[in-house]
Amino acid sequence: MAEDLFINEGTKEDQYQSLLPQVKALLTGEEDLIANLANIAAALKTQFDFFWVGFYLIKDGELVLGPFQGPVACTRIQIGKGVCGTAWKENRVLIVPDVDQFPGHIACSSYAKSEIVLPVRQHGKVIGVLDIDSKRLEDFDEIDHKYLEQLLIFLSKSI
Ligand code: SME
Repeated sequence: MAEDLFINEGTKEDQYQSLLPQVKALLTGEEDLIANLANIAAALKTQFDFFWVGFYLIKDGELVLGPFQGPVACTRIQIGKGVCGTAWKENRVLIVPDVDQFPGHIACSSYAKSEIVLPVRQHGKVIGVLDIDSKRLEDFDEIDHKYLEQLLIFLSKSI
């Protein structure tokens, strides 16, 4: 297993194409959910220097903060609340170019300007979400969607 990530400094697509095989190598042979989520958060934060990268996991009917990298964050989110609770409720990816324009956005930090949230699935069932926040407006697009989805599909086969 690689101990250090190789950091790519190319386009966003180059960066994902370099990062994904490295993350897959980290996940291969490891079935522990928390260990894998922790390494995914660390790898994304290291490559892209996003403001906040982390997971919320469904526990007793609400989202509870899981492994993350970045500043401290809100610990519990109800279904349908904020971007995370909406992505969970609607079982779909949400790209928010400007969080101030998202009704009900939960501001864990005033530095976060744009956000992407993807459902995390295990055996086809949503078990939580991956949430990434950026300090820049409009930082997420279909490239992030495509590669992050690939990563989460790989994760769901590993756990
Ligand atoms: N902004 C999120 C809450 C989680 S933090 O960004 C880490 C939301 O609206 O669901």
